[in-house]
Amino acid sequence: MDSQTNNNQDELQAKIRQLQEMRKKLAEGGGEERIKAQHEKGKQTARERIEKLVDPGTFQEVQPFMLHRHTDFGMEKSRFLGDGLIAGFAKINGRRVCLYAQDFTVLGGSFSEVAGIKLAKLMDMAMQAGVPVIGLSDGGGARIQEGVWSLWAFGELFYRNTLASGVIPQISVELGPCAGGAVYSPAITDFIIMTKNTSNMFITGPEVIKAVTGEEVDFETLGGAGTHSSVSGVAHFAAENEDHALELTRTLLSYLPSNNLEQPPVIPPTDDPFRMDKTLDAIVPVDPNEPYNMHEVIEKIFDQGSFFEVHANFARNAVVGFARLHGQSVGVVGQQPAFLAGSIDIDASDKIARFVRFCDAFNLPIITFSDSPGFLPGVAQEHGGIIRHGAKIVFAYSEATVPKLTVITRKGYGGAYIVMGSKHLRADLVFAWPNAEIAVMGAEGAVNILFRKELKDAADPKAERARLVAEYRAKFANPYNAAAGGHIDDVILPSETRPRLIAALELLRDKQTRLPAKKHGNIPL
Ligand code: HXC
Repeated sequence: MDSQTNNNQDELQAKIRQLQEMRKKLAEGGGEERIKAQHEKGKQTARERIEKLVDPGTFQEVQPFMLHRHTDFGMEKSRFLGDGLIAGFAKINGRRVCLYAQDFTVLGGSFSEVAGIKLAKLMDMAMQAGVPVIGLSDGGGARIQEGVWSLWAFGELFYRNTLASGVIPQISVELGPCAGGAVYSPAITDFIIMTKNTSNMFITGPEVIKAVTGEEVDFETLGGAGTHSSVSGVAHFAAENEDHALELTRTLLSYLPSNNLEQPPVIPPTDDPFRMDKTLDAIVPVDPNEPYNMHEVIEKIFDQGSFFEVHANFARNAVVGFARLHGQSVGVVGQQPAFLAGSIDIDASDKIARFVRFCDAFNLPIITFSDSPGFLPGVAQEHGGIIRHGAKIVFAYSEATVPKLTVITRKGYGGAYIVMGSKHLRADLVFAWPNAEIAVMGAEGAVNILFRKELKDAADPKAERARLVAEYRAKFANPYNAAAGGHIDDVILPSETRPRLIAALELLRDKQTRLPAKKHGNIPL
């Protein structure tokens, strides 16, 4: 080898070493001390989280060497490769995803102009490729030193979250603080998963609240996973810890298509499609006021162990989640008679409507189990806008064009009967169980209104009321009036439900239906 060739080799080797050094630096994030502090808080680093979330060896980073250009507040001395936001693509259970993670060890994971540029690229790429985006958040919000540039960055992200809504699934995993306007990116995405005790979300923190309203509240009570997954409904899942949050993310993705043009995943079925669980025939109590657990009904009908509940602790009078029916991903919606008697209130309306719209956007058939005495009465409900919120359910079911199958398990009274996936909102097939009661209202209420005068004048009002209630029940407390009018498609044995739903789903696999052309509807928000 001549000396020229040797020099070339040395130079090449030096360049390779430089890249390797830079990659090493990249992996160090904000440095050893900061990583130690992160671990001491019970949190993992952004890179450790990515490694745990994705299939081994599949993560490909994009734009890792970007640096910020700001100099105010001495920022020229605080430049880190990648600028605290790791973005890229990978595979999860063999399927393609784009993802990003905020690195708290770099300037507190604060969101910068560079973060905005990187995420704009990532989101555009994800939309064009038609793959889900997962965000792992852990940061102090807009980078204060960058002024309006960090606000620009958030604005760009919010805009893209909005454009991507209904095109690709978007999942936000909250693993640390998320404060101020920063909360609006996760809020626009489809699902929020929060870790208990280490994550929080709020618009204004405890100190500002104390100064403005005098209220004293700690971080966890104000905006922790418990609060948001049960009281506000902002979060869909409360994870025990980071590993659980990442596991929930992988499970959730397994039910979803990669984009709105793709059909949801079908896995090889492991459960007998003709399985008829006889215990279902005895699950609904004869007394309409006696509760039963809708979870049990769902567990017995869908593929064994496949029900994955969403919003499990929020508005527990409604149940929503994903499941598999003969291997096919579906959305399940139901009332929970064991909680508030399955009545529909403001929170249940929001929970159901949002879930139905998600399923419709991503081609997931909607299977509804309806058993509700009606909308929850009360001044707080009326003043809180139950009219506006309840109307969302009507809107969501009416505009949904995916296969819609409904089973009325017991009470189908009044408005609740109509809104919960009735034929009138274009359910494809509606079944009722033999003990279903489809009427304008329950017997007691109807007798009070229809026979007010007779009851007042009766010699024995109690006995007369009992007689009239029994008469009304005999007439209306059954599914056959509705069946005679063609308002339901069949009365089925509860134990037959699984094979009947599977057959209906198979028929409707390629369902085609069109809504009138419009820019968009005006859902009552
Ligand atoms: C720049 C920030 C920062 C931010 C934290 N840091 N937040 N730097 N901009 N927004 C820095 C800290 O100065 C610190 O740097 C390092 O990150 C770690 O922060 P600590 O405070 O030491 O950590 P911790 O005690 O764990 O507290 C984390 C925290 C707190 C709760 C997130 O830092 C905090 O309250 N930050 C401000 C949150 C906030 O109000 N952000 C603005 C939200 S408004 P050093 O070098 O000292 O260690 C918003 C508007 C968006 O985001 C609008 C969109 C339209």
